[in-house]
Amino acid sequence: MKLNNLIESQQLDVATIFALFHKADELRISVKKPLNGKILATLFYEPSTRTRLSFESAMLRLGGNVISTENAKEFSSAIKGESIQDTTRIVSAYADVIVIRHYEDGAAKKAASVSPIPVINAGDGKGQHPTQALLDLYTIWKEIGHIEDITVAMVGDLKYGRTIRSLCYLLGKFKNIKIIFIAPESLSVNDDIKNYLKKYHIQFEEQTDMNKNLPHIDILYMTRIQKERMTEEEYKNSAGKYRITEENINLLEESARLMHPLPHVEEIELNLETEKTNKRVAYFRQAENGLYIRMALLSYLLE
Ligand code: CP
Repeated sequence: MKLNNLIESQQLDVATIFALFHKADELRISVKKPLNGKILATLFYEPSTRTRLSFESAMLRLGGNVISTENAKEFSSAIKGESIQDTTRIVSAYADVIVIRHYEDGAAKKAASVSPIPVINAGDGKGQHPTQALLDLYTIWKEIGHIEDITVAMVGDLKYGRTIRSLCYLLGKFKNIKIIFIAPESLSVNDDIKNYLKKYHIQFEEQTDMNKNLPHIDILYMTRIQKERMTEEEYKNSAGKYRITEENINLLEESARLMHPLPHVEEIELNLETEKTNKRVAYFRQAENGLYIRMALLSYLLE
Protein backbone atom coordinates (compact mmCIF):
# COMPACT_ATOMS: atom_id res chain seq x y z
CA MET A 1 0.00 0.00 0.00
CA LYS A 2 1.44 3.39 -0.97
CA LEU A 3 -0.16 6.44 0.69
CA ASN A 4 -0.59 9.74 -1.18
CA ASN A 5 -1.30 11.74 1.96
CA LEU A 6 -1.67 11.26 5.72
CA ILE A 7 -4.90 12.58 7.20
CA GLU A 8 -5.90 9.87 9.74
CA SER A 9 -3.98 7.18 11.62
CA GLN A 10 -6.29 4.48 10.25
CA GLN A 11 -4.64 4.89 6.84
CA LEU A 12 -1.41 3.34 8.14
CA ASP A 13 -1.01 -0.43 8.11
CA VAL A 14 1.51 -2.26 10.29
CA ALA A 15 3.97 -2.84 7.42
CA THR A 16 4.03 0.88 6.58
CA ILE A 17 4.39 1.82 10.25
CA PHE A 18 7.49 -0.37 10.62
CA ALA A 19 8.91 0.77 7.27
CA LEU A 20 8.69 4.35 8.61
CA PHE A 21 10.28 3.33 11.95
CA HIS A 22 13.23 1.66 10.20
CA LYS A 23 13.63 4.64 7.87
CA ALA A 24 13.58 6.98 10.90
CA ASP A 25 16.34 4.89 12.52
CA GLU A 26 18.38 5.10 9.32
CA LEU A 27 17.94 8.87 9.02
CA ARG A 28 18.96 9.36 12.66
CA ILE A 29 22.41 8.04 11.75
CA SER A 30 23.03 9.31 8.24
CA VAL A 31 21.23 11.79 5.99
CA LYS A 32 21.78 12.25 2.30
CA LYS A 33 19.84 14.97 0.46
CA PRO A 34 17.17 13.01 -1.43
CA LEU A 35 14.66 15.87 -1.50
CA ASN A 36 16.95 18.41 -3.16
CA GLY A 37 14.75 20.75 -5.23
CA LYS A 38 11.48 19.78 -3.47
CA ILE A 39 9.41 22.34 -1.55
CA LEU A 40 7.37 21.88 1.62
CA ALA A 41 4.59 24.40 2.37
CA THR A 42 3.53 24.72 6.01
CA LEU A 43 0.05 26.17 6.58
CA PHE A 44 -0.57 26.50 10.32
CA TYR A 45 -3.89 28.08 11.36
CA GLU A 46 -3.17 27.16 15.01
CA PRO A 47 0.01 27.69 17.07
CA SER A 48 2.73 25.05 17.12
CA THR A 49 6.33 24.65 18.23
CA ARG A 50 7.21 20.96 17.77
CA THR A 51 5.15 19.92 14.74
CA ARG A 52 5.88 22.91 12.56
CA LEU A 53 9.56 23.32 13.38
CA SER A 54 10.30 19.58 13.22
CA PHE A 55 8.61 19.31 9.80
CA GLU A 56 10.52 22.35 8.55
CA SER A 57 13.79 21.05 9.97
CA ALA A 58 13.07 17.59 8.51
CA MET A 59 12.61 19.06 5.02
CA LEU A 60 15.76 21.18 5.25
CA ARG A 61 17.82 18.22 6.54
CA LEU A 62 16.61 16.14 3.58
CA GLY A 63 17.88 18.81 1.21
CA GLY A 64 14.51 20.40 0.39
CA ASN A 65 13.17 23.91 0.94
CA VAL A 66 10.31 25.36 2.96
CA ILE A 67 7.71 28.04 2.25
CA SER A 68 5.30 29.15 4.93
CA THR A 69 2.89 31.76 6.16
CA GLU A 70 3.13 33.20 9.64
CA ASN A 71 -0.09 32.40 11.53
CA ALA A 72 -2.20 31.35 8.53
CA LYS A 73 -5.46 32.18 10.34
CA GLU A 74 -4.58 35.89 10.34
CA PHE A 75 -1.93 36.37 7.66
CA SER A 76 -3.14 34.14 4.82
CA SER A 77 -6.13 35.03 2.65
CA ALA A 78 -8.31 32.97 5.04
CA ILE A 79 -8.85 36.29 6.81
CA LYS A 80 -10.49 37.59 3.59
CA GLY A 81 -12.78 34.55 3.46
CA GLU A 82 -10.84 32.20 1.18
CA SER A 83 -11.84 28.56 1.65
CA ILE A 84 -9.31 25.92 2.70
CA GLN A 85 -9.93 24.18 -0.63
CA ASP A 86 -9.05 27.28 -2.67
CA THR A 87 -5.96 27.98 -0.55
CA THR A 88 -4.84 24.37 -1.06
CA ARG A 89 -5.35 24.53 -4.84
CA ILE A 90 -3.19 27.65 -4.98
CA VAL A 91 -0.42 26.45 -2.65
CA SER A 92 -0.22 23.07 -4.42
CA ALA A 93 1.07 24.90 -7.50
CA TYR A 94 3.92 26.37 -5.44
CA ALA A 95 5.03 23.31 -3.43
CA ASP A 96 5.46 19.51 -3.58
CA VAL A 97 3.86 18.70 -0.22
CA ILE A 98 1.61 20.61 2.21
CA VAL A 99 1.62 20.22 6.00
CA ILE A 100 -1.53 21.73 7.45
CA ARG A 101 -2.74 22.42 11.00
CA HIS A 102 -6.24 23.81 11.37
CA TYR A 103 -8.68 24.61 14.16
CA GLU A 104 -11.58 22.78 12.43
CA ASP A 105 -12.08 18.99 12.52
CA GLY A 106 -11.90 17.66 8.96
CA ALA A 107 -10.01 20.63 7.48
CA ALA A 108 -7.03 18.50 6.36
CA LYS A 109 -9.40 16.06 4.66
CA LYS A 110 -11.02 18.94 2.76
CA ALA A 111 -7.58 20.16 1.69
CA ALA A 112 -6.52 16.66 0.56
CA SER A 113 -9.74 16.24 -1.44
CA VAL A 114 -8.65 18.96 -3.91
CA SER A 115 -4.88 18.65 -3.73
CA PRO A 116 -2.79 17.15 -6.53
CA ILE A 117 0.17 16.92 -4.11
CA PRO A 118 0.46 15.09 -0.75
CA VAL A 119 -1.23 16.71 2.25
CA ILE A 120 -0.17 15.84 5.81
CA ASN A 121 -2.52 16.55 8.69
CA ALA A 122 -0.56 18.27 11.47
CA GLY A 123 -3.64 18.43 13.71
CA ASP A 124 -7.24 19.34 12.85
CA GLY A 125 -9.31 20.70 15.72
CA LYS A 126 -10.15 17.86 18.09
CA GLY A 127 -9.97 15.39 15.20
CA GLN A 128 -6.60 13.76 14.55
CA HIS A 129 -2.86 14.32 14.71
CA PRO A 130 -1.48 11.25 12.92
CA THR A 131 2.21 12.21 12.81
CA GLN A 132 2.09 12.74 16.59
CA ALA A 133 0.69 9.21 16.95
CA LEU A 134 3.43 7.84 14.70
CA LEU A 135 6.15 9.47 16.77
CA ASP A 136 4.41 8.33 19.96
CA LEU A 137 4.32 4.74 18.76
CA TYR A 138 7.94 4.98 17.55
CA THR A 139 8.89 6.22 21.02
CA ILE A 140 7.11 3.26 22.67
CA TRP A 141 8.95 0.90 20.33
CA LYS A 142 12.34 2.53 21.04
CA GLU A 143 11.86 2.82 24.80
CA ILE A 144 10.05 -0.45 25.64
CA GLY A 145 11.46 -2.56 22.80
CA HIS A 146 8.09 -3.77 21.50
CA ILE A 147 4.54 -2.53 20.96
CA GLU A 148 2.48 -5.67 21.56
CA ASP A 149 1.71 -6.88 25.11
CA ILE A 150 1.74 -3.47 26.78
CA THR A 151 -0.57 -1.51 29.07
CA VAL A 152 -0.96 2.19 28.29
CA ALA A 153 -2.68 4.65 30.63
CA MET A 154 -3.98 7.79 28.89
CA VAL A 155 -4.63 10.61 31.31
CA GLY A 156 -6.19 14.08 31.16
CA ASP A 157 -8.20 15.69 28.39
CA LEU A 158 -9.46 12.65 26.53
CA LYS A 159 -12.54 14.43 25.16
CA TYR A 160 -10.80 17.10 23.06
CA GLY A 161 -7.44 15.32 22.66
CA ARG A 162 -6.65 14.63 19.01
CA THR A 163 -3.40 12.90 19.97
CA ILE A 164 -5.42 10.42 22.04
CA ARG A 165 -7.69 9.56 19.11
CA SER A 166 -4.81 9.13 16.66
CA LEU A 167 -2.76 7.03 19.08
CA CYS A 168 -5.71 4.76 19.96
CA TYR A 169 -6.35 4.20 16.26
CA LEU A 170 -2.72 3.12 15.79
CA LEU A 171 -2.57 0.96 18.93
CA GLY A 172 -5.69 -0.81 17.65
CA LYS A 173 -3.50 -2.42 14.98
CA PHE A 174 -1.38 -4.35 17.52
CA LYS A 175 -2.02 -7.42 19.68
CA ASN A 176 -2.50 -7.67 23.44
CA ILE A 177 -2.75 -3.96 24.10
CA LYS A 178 -4.61 -2.75 27.16
CA ILE A 179 -5.60 0.91 27.43
CA ILE A 180 -6.69 2.53 30.70
CA PHE A 181 -8.44 5.85 30.17
CA ILE A 182 -8.20 8.15 33.19
CA ALA A 183 -10.01 11.48 32.95
CA PRO A 184 -12.25 13.87 34.82
CA GLU A 185 -15.84 12.79 34.17
CA SER A 186 -16.52 15.81 31.94
CA LEU A 187 -13.53 15.00 29.69
CA SER A 188 -13.97 11.25 29.22
CA VAL A 189 -12.99 9.48 26.04
CA ASN A 190 -15.33 9.72 23.04
CA ASP A 191 -17.57 6.91 21.79
CA ASP A 192 -15.97 6.74 18.33
CA ILE A 193 -12.69 5.71 19.98
CA LYS A 194 -14.37 3.17 22.27
CA ASN A 195 -16.32 1.69 19.33
CA TYR A 196 -13.13 1.39 17.29
CA LEU A 197 -11.33 -0.39 20.14
CA LYS A 198 -14.26 -2.76 20.63
CA LYS A 199 -14.31 -3.54 16.90
CA TYR A 200 -10.62 -4.48 16.96
CA HIS A 201 -10.91 -6.36 20.30
CA ILE A 202 -8.61 -4.02 22.19
CA GLN A 203 -9.11 -4.25 25.94
CA PHE A 204 -9.85 -0.92 27.62
CA GLU A 205 -11.13 0.42 30.94
CA GLU A 206 -12.28 3.83 32.12
CA GLN A 207 -11.06 4.83 35.57
CA THR A 208 -10.63 7.96 37.66
CA ASP A 209 -7.73 7.13 40.04
CA MET A 210 -4.34 7.65 38.39
CA ASN A 211 -1.94 6.82 41.24
CA LYS A 212 -3.30 3.36 41.91
CA ASN A 213 -2.60 2.41 38.28
CA LEU A 214 0.97 3.75 38.10
CA PRO A 215 2.77 0.58 39.34
CA HIS A 216 0.99 -1.62 36.78
CA ILE A 217 1.48 0.14 33.44
CA ASP A 218 4.20 0.32 30.77
CA ILE A 219 3.32 3.75 29.38
CA LEU A 220 1.81 6.74 31.14
CA TYR A 221 0.60 9.09 28.41
CA MET A 222 -0.26 12.39 30.08
CA THR A 223 -2.09 15.16 28.24
CA ARG A 224 -2.76 18.83 28.86
CA ILE A 225 -6.26 20.05 29.72
CA GLN A 226 -6.85 22.11 26.57
CA LYS A 227 -8.39 25.29 27.93
CA GLU A 228 -8.70 26.71 24.41
CA ARG A 229 -11.11 23.95 23.31
CA MET A 230 -13.58 23.87 26.24
CA THR A 231 -16.03 25.91 28.24
CA GLU A 232 -14.84 27.73 31.35
CA GLU A 233 -16.98 25.38 33.43
CA GLU A 234 -15.31 22.28 31.93
CA TYR A 235 -11.87 23.79 32.55
CA LYS A 236 -12.64 24.77 36.16
CA ASN A 237 -13.89 21.23 36.90
CA SER A 238 -10.91 19.45 35.41
CA ALA A 239 -7.71 21.55 35.62
CA GLY A 240 -5.10 20.23 38.03
CA LYS A 241 -6.94 17.00 38.80
CA TYR A 242 -4.10 14.75 37.63
CA ARG A 243 -0.46 15.69 38.24
CA ILE A 244 2.84 13.85 37.99
CA THR A 245 5.09 15.08 40.75
CA GLU A 246 8.36 14.26 42.52
CA GLU A 247 6.24 12.10 44.85
CA ASN A 248 4.38 9.87 42.41
CA ILE A 249 6.74 9.55 39.40
CA ASN A 250 8.64 6.70 41.05
CA LEU A 251 5.45 4.71 41.54
CA LEU A 252 6.06 3.79 37.90
CA GLU A 253 8.25 0.72 37.36
CA GLU A 254 11.82 1.63 36.32
CA SER A 255 11.12 0.19 32.88
CA ALA A 256 7.90 2.22 32.45
CA ARG A 257 7.89 5.52 30.60
CA LEU A 258 6.17 8.87 31.08
CA MET A 259 5.16 10.33 27.73
CA HIS A 260 3.38 13.56 26.80
CA PRO A 261 2.75 15.11 23.37
CA LEU A 262 3.69 18.49 24.89
CA PRO A 263 3.41 21.34 25.62
CA HIS A 264 2.87 20.42 29.27
CA VAL A 265 1.60 22.80 31.93
CA GLU A 266 0.46 22.03 35.48
CA GLU A 267 -0.06 18.27 34.90
CA ILE A 268 3.75 17.75 35.06
CA GLU A 269 5.40 19.13 38.21
CA LEU A 270 8.90 17.66 37.98
CA ASN A 271 12.09 19.57 38.63
CA LEU A 272 14.68 19.99 35.88
CA GLU A 273 17.05 17.47 37.48
CA THR A 274 14.38 14.75 37.51
CA GLU A 275 13.47 15.51 33.92
CA LYS A 276 17.15 15.12 33.01
CA THR A 277 18.12 12.06 35.05
CA ASN A 278 15.02 9.94 35.65
CA LYS A 279 14.89 7.52 32.68
CA ARG A 280 11.13 7.20 33.12
CA VAL A 281 10.76 10.74 31.73
CA ALA A 282 10.62 10.17 27.98
CA TYR A 283 8.83 13.24 26.63
CA PHE A 284 11.88 15.16 25.44
CA ARG A 285 13.23 12.08 23.63
CA GLN A 286 9.68 11.64 22.27
CA ALA A 287 9.68 15.19 20.83
CA GLU A 288 13.11 14.62 19.25
CA ASN A 289 11.83 11.39 17.69
CA GLY A 290 9.29 13.56 15.87
CA LEU A 291 12.06 14.96 13.70
CA TYR A 292 13.18 11.52 12.46
CA ILE A 293 9.64 10.23 11.96
CA ARG A 294 8.73 13.34 9.94
CA MET A 295 11.91 12.98 7.87
CA ALA A 296 10.91 9.36 7.21
CA LEU A 297 7.38 10.38 6.23
CA LEU A 298 8.53 13.15 3.86
CA SER A 299 10.98 10.71 2.23
CA TYR A 300 8.23 8.10 1.91
CA LEU A 301 5.80 10.55 0.25
CA LEU A 302 8.24 12.39 -2.00
CA GLU A 303 11.13 10.11 -2.96
N1 CP B 1 2.64 17.97 20.19
C1 CP B 1 2.41 19.02 19.39
O1 CP B 1 1.63 18.92 18.43
O2 CP B 1 3.11 20.14 19.73
P1 CP B 1 2.97 21.54 18.99
O3 CP B 1 1.58 22.05 19.26
O4 CP B 1 4.04 22.40 19.60
O5 CP B 1 3.20 21.32 17.52
